[in-house]
Amino acid sequence: MILVTGGAGYIGSHLVMALLEQGENVIVFDSLEVGHIETIETLKKYGNLKFVQGNLKNLDDIRGAFLVNKIDTVVHFAAYSQVAESVKNPQKYYYNNVYGTLNLLNAMLEFGVKKIVFSSTAATYGEPEYTPIDENHPQHPINPYGKTKLMIEHIMDDYDTAYGLKSVRLRYFNVAGADSKARIGEWHEPETHLIPNILKATSDKVFKMFGEDYDTKDGTCVRDYINVEDLAQAHIKAIDYLKQGGETNFFNLGTNDGSSVKEVFAACEKVKGESIPLEVCPRREGDPATLVADNKKAKDVLSWAPEKDLEHSIKTAYDWEKELKSRISE
Ligand code: UFG
Repeated sequence: MILVTGGAGYIGSHLVMALLEQGENVIVFDSLEVGHIETIETLKKYGNLKFVQGNLKNLDDIRGAFLVNKIDTVVHFAAYSQVAESVKNPQKYYYNNVYGTLNLLNAMLEFGVKKIVFSSTAATYGEPEYTPIDENHPQHPINPYGKTKLMIEHIMDDYDTAYGLKSVRLRYFNVAGADSKARIGEWHEPETHLIPNILKATSDKVFKMFGEDYDTKDGTCVRDYINVEDLAQAHIKAIDYLKQGGETNFFNLGTNDGSSVKEVFAACEKVKGESIPLEVCPRREGDPATLVADNKKAKDVLSWAPEKDLEHSIKTAYDWEKELKSRISE
């Protein structure tokens, strides 16, 4: 069985859907602080899914999941992931992300589980020294969120050396889109990400574009938007890699291509078929001008390649926005 921590959240739920659709038995462990029980109820319709509500900060919660299930691989998404919040409240991030992961790893050792796929991030690289960013780029994170993810990568290296625990760390760039059938999607409260914020904008709550004076093609920040279903497929490749005896490794997950905020905004207007109210605001603190992945290593080693373009991500995000709105108003 595969244990997915954070499987009720945005990215985790898309992996769970993909695993269930290929007939895997899955256990989701989630505190439901950020994830949603409605997502679990939807996922349960598509295969053999067990749900354990628990918090990684409580060792006994996670031990309980290992005690009663035969788990061979773990995929670990559960974490707080808001950069700005991590700067204001680092205690929350170090305690949850680092201590919570230590409990998970220690439970894995206790129960002899030696394979883990971990959600890492481009934020571990910090301010880019060159672009596109490959895996050899120095890792100097500039906020507590990125630091927690890098600390966990280091802990995983030491657990491999000492205990033979094999990890694959997937460093995501900007994740976008939703399930192609609008069954699940991005559902954050509050929402901070670009695409859902553009799509949600109304004349009462206009979209705020943070800065247009960056040193980029049109003055707005450039990011590498990777589709969430493509990302789920990369996790499946990473699980297979570990099952085939692969060594500890790490990969960037992105498209090798950057889009500016203005380009994403224009693509959203095209998908919606209407103009979207916009206000240009000062820069948001801590935003690097350009973040684009070099994904060659994932292509070569995992035989993974992104298939869905930005327009598909925006279209599915929009279909999901409409679905979510209708569910909430029911
Ligand atoms: N932006 C706006 N208005 C908004 C929201 C975002 O202009 O309402 C801009 C941002 O300033 C930035 C770009 O859109 O230039 C993308 O911002 P996001 O918040 O969508 O994404 P980030 O690039 O800040 O961060 C994402 C993840 C992080 C992760 C990081 C790694 O949210 O968890 O990618 O690259 F660390």
